[in-house]
Order: sequence, then structure tokens, then C-alpha cells
Amino acid sequence: RKRAPMPDDIRAAKGGTPLVSLTAYTTPMAQMMDAQCDFVLVGDSVGMVLHGLPSTLGVTMEMMVMHGQAVARGLTTAMMVIDMPFGSYEASREVAFANAARLMAETGAAAVKLEGGVEMAETIAFLVARGVPVMAHIGLTPQSINTLGGYKVQGRGAARDGLMADARAVCDAGAFAVVLEKVPEVLADEVTALVDIPTIGIGASAGCDGQILVVDDMLGLFTAFKAKFVKRYAHLGEDGADAIAAYAADVRARRFPAAEHVFSDEAPAAKGAKP
Ligand code: KIV
Ligand code: NA
Repeated sequence: RKRAPMPDDIRAAKGGTPLVSLTAYTTPMAQMMDAQCDFVLVGDSVGMVLHGLPSTLGVTMEMMVMHGQAVARGLTTAMMVIDMPFGSYEASREVAFANAARLMAETGAAAVKLEGGVEMAETIAFLVARGVPVMAHIGLTPQSINTLGGYKVQGRGAARDGLMADARAVCDAGAFAVVLEKVPEVLADEVTALVDIPTIGIGASAGCDGQILVVDDMLGLFTAFKAKFVKRYAHLGEDGADAIAAYAADVRARRFPAAEHVFSDEAPAAKGAKP
């Protein structure tokens, strides 16, 4: 692929080869995944993963702008989506538009993502009508952790109908895709059949139109806890701790720096000079 897809291209991937996506927060991480991902999400998970916050609630617009700019510098062929942080879009459609426009203008993101279903449908329609492509996020919505009462599976049993209504509402409002987080597999498949926009699963189903994971989770860099839906493809946190222990032992034994890491007192011969 020579250029990044647009939100309409992502929408058109409904029912095709599953969409691949990960989160990213920095330039090198974005560069690492650019060629593999259809889109990259600058997630507000950055607060927990990189800043040590206890939840995503303390993430600010300034943090999203700064990480969004860093990620944008690392992407050439993946589309960039950026999360609207808690408090930046719930109060009114106008506040949501102002903050979405700022995120897009200052980072170059092609789209924003916001959490919520039926209750956010009007806001999604307002944004889409004004040039802001919106990715919706329903099921477990971490910004509502204090009203949801924990990071529980959403849409089980009697809650199924509400989740289906949320999916229909965000689709009808004009969202170009919808993230389904931590819902029963069978329900994720039903939602995927119900809506004509791609469903992006995280703790959902292999039947979704795409998948997303937090990159630090799948690389084994974030190890404070591991959700059941995370598959660790690497153990970079352990590798890093081992490397640091080896460095510490080398320093204490004066094995580091070695001959190849130190400088002689003589200036190197000028290039092209005869010996
Ligand atoms: O912030 C985030 O990382 C997310 C994804 C997990 C969907 O919203
Ligand atoms: Na998020």
C-alpha cells in the first residue's frame, strides 16, 4: 500500500479481510507497526500504559495532542485515529466538535474515537456532518468505569438488547466503524451481522471485521495486569529487566565499558590520509 486508507476505505473493508490495528503512543512504536496496520489508534490507554495513571480518567487533551503528534511522525501507510479523552466530548455536541477539531488539526489524525452508544449518537452525527469521521466504542467503555462498577464483560443476558441498540445507534449516526470491547463472542458476532460498518474487536470475537490490542499489552511491556483478551506475542518487559540486570552486573564488575566503547587519546586519521 502506498498511502494510508481514509475512513471511507476502512468502512468499505466491512466483511473483507480482517482489519489490523494496534495502539501507539510514540514515534518508534508507530514506525514499528506502520506497515502491518490498517489503522493505528492513539488510545487514551496511554494514561495507564505510559503515565502510570490508575485509569484513563486523568488523560488530558494536552496528553492526547502530544502523543498524537509523536505517532503521526512515525506513520506513512497506516491511518491514524485518536481517542477523545474523558471530559472532552460528553457535555455538548459543540464542545465535542471543538475538541475533535483541535485533535485533528494539531495531530493530523484522520478520525477521532469516542466512547458511548445511544447517548452519544447525536454527538456522532453532529461531528460527522461537520467533517469529523468518528469511530465509535461500545461495550466496555473504560472512561465510564465508575458508573459501570468495574471492568466487567458487557452485554451479557438481559444487557444484550442495550448493546445491540448502541451498535445500531452509532451506525445510524454515521460512525465509520465501531470498537466492541469485552462482550460475549456470540453477541459480537450478532452485532457484526447487524451493522453495515466494520466491528473492531477487543475481547470480542474472531468474527469481527477487525481486531485491536494495546501494543504494550501484546508486546509484554505493560505487565501491571493482563486482561484475558490480551495475547502476549513478546515479553519485552522481561527482556528489558534482564538486559538492565546484565548492565548493572557489568558496571559493578567493571566489564562495561569495554575496549570498543572507549576512546583513545589520539584523534582519528583524517579520511583519505596516507598512513
Ligand atoms: O485506549 C485504547 O487503547 C482503546 C483501545 C483498547 C480500543 O480505546
Ligand atoms: Na481508549
